[in-house]
Amino acid sequence: MTDSASDRRSVAASNGRSDAGSGPARRSDAASGPAPRSDAAAGPAPRSDPDATPLLGLNNIEVLYDDVILVLRGLSLEVAEGGIAALLGSNGAGKTTTLKAISGLLYVEDGEVSDGTIVFDGEEIQGMDAHRIVEKGVFQVLEGRRVFEHLTVRENLLAGGYTRGTRRGLNADADKVYHYFPALAERRGQLAGHLSGGEQQMLALGRALMASPRMMLLDEPSLGLAPMLVESIFEIVRRINREEGTTILLVEQNARVALSVADYGYIMEGGRVVLEGAAEELRTNEDVKEFYLGLGDGGRRSYRDVKHYRRRKRWLS
Ligand SMILES: Nc1ncnc2c1ncn2[C@@H]1O[C@H](COP(=O)(O)OP(=O)(O)OP(=O)(O)O)[C@@H](O)[C@H]1O
Ligand SMILES: [Mg+2]
Repeated sequence: MTDSASDRRSVAASNGRSDAGSGPARRSDAASGPAPRSDAAAGPAPRSDPDATPLLGLNNIEVLYDDVILVLRGLSLEVAEGGIAALLGSNGAGKTTTLKAISGLLYVEDGEVSDGTIVFDGEEIQGMDAHRIVEKGVFQVLEGRRVFEHLTVRENLLAGGYTRGTRRGLNADADKVYHYFPALAERRGQLAGHLSGGEQQMLALGRALMASPRMMLLDEPSLGLAPMLVESIFEIVRRINREEGTTILLVEQNARVALSVADYGYIMEGGRVVLEGAAEELRTNEDVKEFYLGLGDGGRRSYRDVKHYRRRKRWLS
């Protein structure tokens, strides 16, 4: 493990970087490279074994769209085997871009990983074809419940199992999905397009389960769902992690719920991680509470602004 990687084991915020504003930057903005998260305090270790080799590691990755728009600017994170890591941040921070960089789907939008490495199970996968990454066991559930609307629930599930390259065990796996999502069992013959938003989200997760992935990348599964449904979807995500042993990287704007299911969390802004730590530590971190969990006063600012604001408050009081 590198020094910087071990630094990142505890809560570490970038301090006073002048180029950490939100929004994409031109490539030349990033000439100075990523900032070390230098004020790493010794905090509690994540629940998962900190010495274990991570199943997934992103090391200083940069992502460019259209050859010039630099969106990820030296992003590093790790997900322990069997763990759940939450990747949090506001609109445009680069969360979806991060997931697409991992799953190989950037090419669809003329994007590429232009620097850094993405290591899955000991092998560099940046730039690899998306279908090969799926074969290695990484499955992304896209933002916005993408299901095949004109196929039935069961047909959607069977399509999810197709990536395994064999029909054997498909029915047993569909039964496994119905075990986690009984509402889908009742609607197995119904067209997916006629399902409610929550049921479509369940189907999208169920389709991922059909591929028996080692790792699931979930992009905002709570989006647009009623609070009670959000709780139950996350409860199922936790059960899948525990019972199937699936490692999960969970992208969310709903920090409160995400940190209640994750072991470890990363908060990103402007294309890089600005804060990370054990989930329970982030949940109680005052800056995170103030900004992301909405427990403070004032509007929603950037994490860095909150830090300045808190410093000013201390100065004034
Ligand atoms: N295909 C693209 N071409 C150019 N810029 C893009 C492209 N896709 C995303 N971006 C830009 O990259 C930045 C990060 O976008 P991304 O979708 O990764 O953010 P996000 O954190 O997932 O946001 P949200 O919470 O709104 O889903 C944004 O500024 C966005 O405008
Ligand atoms: Mg997104």
